[in-house]
Amino acid sequence: MITTDVKSARSFVSDDEYAEAFELAEKTYQQVKNQTGAGSEWLGWQRILKEPNDAELEELTSHAERIREDADIFIVCGIGGSYTGAMAVIKALNPYFKNNGPEILYAGHHMSGKYLKQLMEYLQTPKEDGELKSVYLNGISKSGSTLETALAFRTIRAWMHEVYEDAADRIIATTGKEGGVMNKIVAEEGYQKYIIPDDVGGRFSVLTPVGLLPIAVAGIDIQTLYYGAVSEYEGREQDQETILEYAALRYALLKNGHALDVLTSFEPELIGFTAWIQQLLGESEGKEGKGMFPAMAGYSTDLHSIGQIIQEGRRNLIETILVAKKPISDFKVQETQGEDIDQLGYLSGRSFHQINKSALDGTVEAHTEGGVPVLKIIIEELNAQQLGKLIYFYELFTAVYVYMLDVNPFNQPGVEGYKKAMYKLLGKDV
Ligand code: PA5
Repeated sequence: MITTDVKSARSFVSDDEYAEAFELAEKTYQQVKNQTGAGSEWLGWQRILKEPNDAELEELTSHAERIREDADIFIVCGIGGSYTGAMAVIKALNPYFKNNGPEILYAGHHMSGKYLKQLMEYLQTPKEDGELKSVYLNGISKSGSTLETALAFRTIRAWMHEVYEDAADRIIATTGKEGGVMNKIVAEEGYQKYIIPDDVGGRFSVLTPVGLLPIAVAGIDIQTLYYGAVSEYEGREQDQETILEYAALRYALLKNGHALDVLTSFEPELIGFTAWIQQLLGESEGKEGKGMFPAMAGYSTDLHSIGQIIQEGRRNLIETILVAKKPISDFKVQETQGEDIDQLGYLSGRSFHQINKSALDGTVEAHTEGGVPVLKIIIEELNAQQLGKLIYFYELFTAVYVYMLDVNPFNQPGVEGYKKAMYKLLGKDV
């Protein structure tokens, strides 16, 4: 199961603060378990692990295999919970510089005309052999009406219908069971459709077709990912201690003046996960004037920028670091040849993992001394099974912790604010 190291953070919370918070976490865990908390009709992210849909997993796997055989490019078209989870897993497990299968591109996650124009130009550019690229498009929107996604979906699929006779077989819609514009388009065009269950909200949907199809197309074993989450679910049914401890600490830290959580990792592969956690926490807890602001950062890159304010700025932040225990790579520093001109001889032959780990340990020590409570969330190694576990760990943590704030973790009324103002400016009736 996922483990944590919270020694640093614990030293910033008194025994009384901790005991009180832990008691509250025990109560809110029961609200999740007994489905008695606000928004309990949205607990489907647990149901899908309790009753895995193996037929759907197989169908997604074989559909993804067919796409992988034919596609040069697979476009994930979605925003927020409709793409962050897929991106997190794909970035974590796919190589940095070469594709393991089709190139995975993202669209529909903002409204940059420049980006979309250049994306279209890129799609239209023939391959080296002069052939048209083979493009597949996955439109993902639970509501089926999100403007950012709808605009990109319209643009890309219009071009696909122009150039591919079999466009309808290349376009896949992942959306709610019924309602929304995407369902109308599916009915009209006959695209393959995957359903996002009613009881699973966007940011909790990575283990539904929302995340699973793109992840499988990227060549990642979704059975292993999914069953990693199932095993974390089953383990947490027996043992909630780590979750309760983490929830109690974050809550007590919030109460004693910590307003900001820097979510980070020393492994660039895991930065996509910090984005996923940022959304999961921020959209779930930031309501009714409450919550801790989750801010993602990448180390050690950002130690050379915001590292300064973390070490010595206003003392109102905590830090959460995602750690993979087993070395991700065995790449080593070259042996010194002749004179030690670059003065790196003391690191000769050492692994980058070991050096990076010293940066991690040194950062925890320095930041703790500087007044920053640090929490480490630990996966055993970087693989699909462990990432599945991490996904469920954070989903459960979010529900238990956000209930402690006495708010509904599963809605996002605040997101409507900008949409209303934007639609008014654009002249749309709302
Ligand atoms: O967590 C959420 O519900 C949101 O982030 C949504 O996923 C996001 O707003 C996209 O919505 P939709 O999938 O309806 O296009």
